[in-house]
Amino acid sequence: MNTLSLIALDGPSGVGKSTTAKRVAQQLGWNYLDTGAMYRVTALALHRAGVDLADRPALEALLASLRIEQRGSRSFLNGEDVSDAIRTPEVTKLVTPVSADPRVREVLVEQQRAIGATGGWVVDGRDIGTVVFTNACCKVFLTASAEARARRRFLELQAKGVPLAYEEILADQQRRDHADSTRAVAPLRKADDALELDSSTMTLDEVVAWIVRHHQSH
Ligand code: DC
Repeated sequence: MNTLSLIALDGPSGVGKSTTAKRVAQQLGWNYLDTGAMYRVTALALHRAGVDLADRPALEALLASLRIEQRGSRSFLNGEDVSDAIRTPEVTKLVTPVSADPRVREVLVEQQRAIGATGGWVVDGRDIGTVVFTNACCKVFLTASAEARARRRFLELQAKGVPLAYEEILADQQRRDHADSTRAVAPLRKADDALELDSSTMTLDEVVAWIVRHHQSH
């Protein structure tokens, strides 16, 4: 298989993958694909249509009519900007079972491969290096301790005036980590050929610089 000029950035939730991926893409003059947003848009679409995952014909029909687009860092569902709607705590809960569904993954992975096929993309997610783009030239598995991730999120929300307790954020993060890494299909794990970067004590600038350097050394 030919190596693809693409950076696969995987890791647990709340580690800052999307902010990092966006910045790396900017520095390289590449595009950025947020695959988590694709699962979120799908969860929102299912929720709005009142479709239960157990209703397979209805799921199939919805997947066939689903048009997900990403323009810059905005996400669109059948032409509607749903960037804010997909970030609510409700969708964050709903997306866990949706992203564990094998058929949903099959459809979205196919779309992701079609988008990234030409190379020149920074793609973030959970299974980018292990499943979606196993031939990516550069794979990074970004981690940080659960406490460091929860603390960052707490400060971020506090700055926005959202009063959510640190313990609650940490518990939600642990729930998502567990679900993502123990599911049957495409669980979160580091690809054998990925380099792991523990960003617990690093700034965003340092993480971005590290990934750009790692990419350029390839
Ligand atoms: O990164 P995020 O929190 O926006 O991701 C939303 C959900 O989708 C999360 O539950 C993990 C899941 N996900 C996935 O299973 N595979 C990906 N490639 C990206 C996200």
